[in-house]
Amino acid sequence: MNKRIIVSICGASGSIYGINLLKSLLAMPVEVYLVISKAGGTVLEHETGYKGGSFQSFLKDKGVVFHKQARLNAYDTDDFFAPPASGSFKHNGMVIAPCSMKTLGAIASGISDNLIHRAADVCLKEKRPLILLTRETPLSVVHLRNMYKAAVSGVTIMPASPGFYFNPKTVSDLIDSVIARVLDHLDIKHDLVKEWGKDKIV
Ligand SMILES: Cc1cc2nc3c(=O)[nH]c(=O)nc-3n(C[C@H](O)[C@H](O)[C@H](O)COP(=O)(O)O)c2cc1C
Repeated sequence: MNKRIIVSICGASGSIYGINLLKSLLAMPVEVYLVISKAGGTVLEHETGYKGGSFQSFLKDKGVVFHKQARLNAYDTDDFFAPPASGSFKHNGMVIAPCSMKTLGAIASGISDNLIHRAADVCLKEKRPLILLTRETPLSVVHLRNMYKAAVSGVTIMPASPGFYFNPKTVSDLIDSVIARVLDHLDIKHDLVKEWGKDKIV
C-alpha cells in the first residue's frame, strides 16, 4: 500500500512550508489527506497569492508535479466524518505545517473542536507519528509548556528553523532544509538535502 500522510496547514506564518511539503509528497506515490484551517486559508491567501478555486491547480502553478500514483484528498475542518477523524483509518503520520500556537495548545490539552485537532488527537491515542512544525517567536511560557506537554505525549515538535550549514542559495533551499527533516521523521526518502557526512571520503 502507498504511504498515507495527513497534512494540515494552520494560520501561523509560513504557509510555504505546507506547500513545499505537499510538493515533495505529491511527487511520490503517496496519498495525502489535506486539511487547511480557516485561519490557515486566510494566511495562505495573504502569503502565497492563492485566490480560492481549485487548490490542485494552484499547486500546479506553484510547481507541484503530481506522481501518477499520488492522490490529494482535501477535507473541511468541520468534517468529522472524514477518514483522519477515526482511529480505524490507517496512515503513516500527520504533519501540521505550519502549526500555530492555538493548534499546539488545543493538541496539548486534548481539545478536539475541529478536524485538525481531532486527527492529531487520534495520532496520539493510536501512537502514530505527529509532527508539529511550529512557528512563533519569541515563545511565551504558555507556548513552552504546551510544547513540553505535547512532546511528552509523543508529538515531535519541529520549530520551523532552517539550517545554514549546507550553504543555502535561495529561500526555497532554506524551506526545504526543514521539509527534509520532516520527511526523515516520516521515514520517506528524499534528495532535498544531502545527509551530513555523505560526501566525506573515509
Ligand atoms: C498574517 C498572520 C500571521 C500569523 N502568524 C502566526 C504565527 O506565526 N504563529 C502563530 O501561532 N499564530 C499566527 N497568527 C495567528 C493565527 O492565525 C491565529 O491564532 C489563528 O486563530 C490560528 O488558528 P488555527 O490554528 O486554527 O489555524 C497569524 C495570523 C495572521 C493573520
